[in-house]
Amino acid sequence: MPSEMAARQPGDPERREFMAKAVSIVAGGAIVSVPVGVGIATLVSPIFGEGQGGIKIRLAAVEDLPGDGSPKLYQVVAERTDAWTKYPEKPLGSVFLRKLENGGVAAFNSSCPHAGCSVGFKSKEEGYYCPCHESVFLLDGSMGKFCVSPRGLDSLEVDKDRLKDGEVWVTFQNFAAGIEEKRAI
Ligand code: FES
Repeated sequence: MPSEMAARQPGDPERREFMAKAVSIVAGGAIVSVPVGVGIATLVSPIFGEGQGGIKIRLAAVEDLPGDGSPKLYQVVAERTDAWTKYPEKPLGSVFLRKLENGGVAAFNSSCPHAGCSVGFKSKEEGYYCPCHESVFLLDGSMGKFCVSPRGLDSLEVDKDRLKDGEVWVTFQNFAAGIEEKRAI
């Protein structure tokens, strides 16, 4: 079971702008710009206790996603507070969200399953690209023709009930790199 976490959108425009700038991606020698958002989970338990169930977090409204089916990248950041202390924010990873023709939303962890580099997006035709060892993944996350990764991009669970209300909630998890099996870590 994923940990249920209260989530909110960041209220600090300066920070949001910084995060957006930080995610220009070098792919194949070219900078690829993808729209970027941030989801912040406010945790009431230690971040490191998240376990294998993942963290359920609101990343976007469906209407925030490009209508043409291109992905949008969301950084996942956790902040933790208790009665006395607010702990520093901790980036957990990032997620590509993409509107599907059937009304659903696909979510992929942007960490490359080969060795954990950040995967970028080139175009709907060329798909996703990992610059570390030049692996290509198709738009649906599967392995492209040139791909040294042992598996396709790791899909993440999207909450179907919340999707009906126009909200995109994802169970964020990281997975072991370098193996064929999709194993949560
Ligand atoms: S880390 Fe992505 S191809 Fe090697």
